[in-house]
Amino acid sequence: MTASESLGVAVLISGEGTNLQALIDAQHAGRLHSEIRAVISDKKDARGLERARRAGIPALHIDPQAYADREAYDSAVAALIDRYGAGLVVLAGYMRILSNAFIEHFNGRIINIHPSLLPKFKGLHTHRRVLAAEDRAHGATVHFVTADLDSGPPVFQYRIAVGPDDTEATLSARVHVGEYIILCDAVARFATGRLYLADGAVMLDGAPLEAPMIIQDET
Ligand code: GRF
Repeated sequence: MTASESLGVAVLISGEGTNLQALIDAQHAGRLHSEIRAVISDKKDARGLERARRAGIPALHIDPQAYADREAYDSAVAALIDRYGAGLVVLAGYMRILSNAFIEHFNGRIINIHPSLLPKFKGLHTHRRVLAAEDRAHGATVHFVTADLDSGPPVFQYRIAVGPDDTEATLSARVHVGEYIILCDAVARFATGRLYLADGAVMLDGAPLEAPMIIQDET
């Protein structure tokens, strides 16, 4: 990447792609400081592919069934990401577990958005599980991806208070709003060199980040 060239980003999705849309909107508004070069989905009918096409971004469906195993699939996806010159991989609702080889290939250059206050509620159905646990705080986390699922070093957390009337649907909607904010912010900061991983530690604005930066929902 030359000084005049902005960071290339590849976004991996499996579904709706509203986080992708937030990234596209931020790019158009000049707030991403980077360029989404490709959107890749393991699901043919992922709505996010349509969002990418509408924005004039290469939208690629790579069918897992065409590959012998996870490693072969991930290696094809990695080759594609490299071909598009992406220096950052953003997992935005990508529902596949990544192989170690893929994670090592993009070491320190993969971020994920997860709908919970990690380390609480790794995995799926986080909103339902928060309600079942009667937790009063919930939110979303942006973290660097390492080999342990949903366990890489966190960067930002968006926190909301869970109210008595909240349902899975309202939590999902409220958390999504925060996801857009912290994901776009993380990409912008990574693109401008303000955020990176050094020896497994998150560096933010020149200093190690001991705990995720919290953004509290005030509504
Ligand atoms: C988000 O809740 C994200 O945290 C999770 O998957 C969901 C994707 O939503 N990883 P969308 O496809 O961006 O609307």
